[in-house]
Amino acid sequence: MRLFALSDIHVDYPDNARWVEHLSGADYRDDILILAGDLTEDSRLLAWCLGSFAAKFRQVLFVPGNHDLWVRRDQADMCSFRKFAQVMDVAADSGVSASLYSYEDTLVVPLFSWYDYSFGTPDSDLRMLWMDFRACRWPDGFGPPQVTEHFLRMNPDSLPHAAKRVVTFSHFLPRIDLIPSFVPAAMRTLDPVLGSSGIERQLRALGADLHVYGHSHINRRVTLDGVTYINNAFGYPQETMISARRLIALDDA
Ligand SMILES: [Fe+2]
Repeated sequence: MRLFALSDIHVDYPDNARWVEHLSGADYRDDILILAGDLTEDSRLLAWCLGSFAAKFRQVLFVPGNHDLWVRRDQADMCSFRKFAQVMDVAADSGVSASLYSYEDTLVVPLFSWYDYSFGTPDSDLRMLWMDFRACRWPDGFGPPQVTEHFLRMNPDSLPHAAKRVVTFSHFLPRIDLIPSFVPAAMRTLDPVLGSSGIERQLRALGADLHVYGHSHINRRVTLDGVTYINNAFGYPQETMISARRLIALDDA
């Protein structure tokens, strides 16, 4: 049994959807897939995508990303928390789990998350340009810090039993030094919306050996303070330099 990871598949792009469609139905039947968010904002496409992966893998484990919670095409009374509940229902109906999963000597723990500005304060450009600020809707009194707190509170603070290896995963980044130094200063204005140090606290408390994240679309494998962090984003069709359009097995990545 192998453990694979993928994030940011963005199947709204027909090229990306074709890749999912053509992924082997035979090669991964004994394997587990971590899907670390950002599949699509479209519920029907989400059901199709999750169902396709579920049919090809023994088990698919999933947390939503920011794009999955966009409500810009929904009625005005739809909020992103309700969209979250809807997305989780679609996942459950597709046979995809967002719960802790144990196999052999490994425990895989999904961590729900958002960004809370612990990596920086958004400037006026970011406030104007960042699509989530228009495409997500939250109840009164909820800004990104409160949304993050809400999602982090859904995560377990301890494990049900010991495991030789603990793998956690989130859509958002648990630490800002996962952004590599080659990223130009102009792009660093995005830092505030990349993740939360609260995710890092949680994965450390759970004793993670390995953490899979998405969102940045900058593929990377790095070990920091004893934890190995892996981003394997599929990315947008034009992002061929920073994301890889393939599955990676975590055991031999
Ligand atoms: Fe994202």
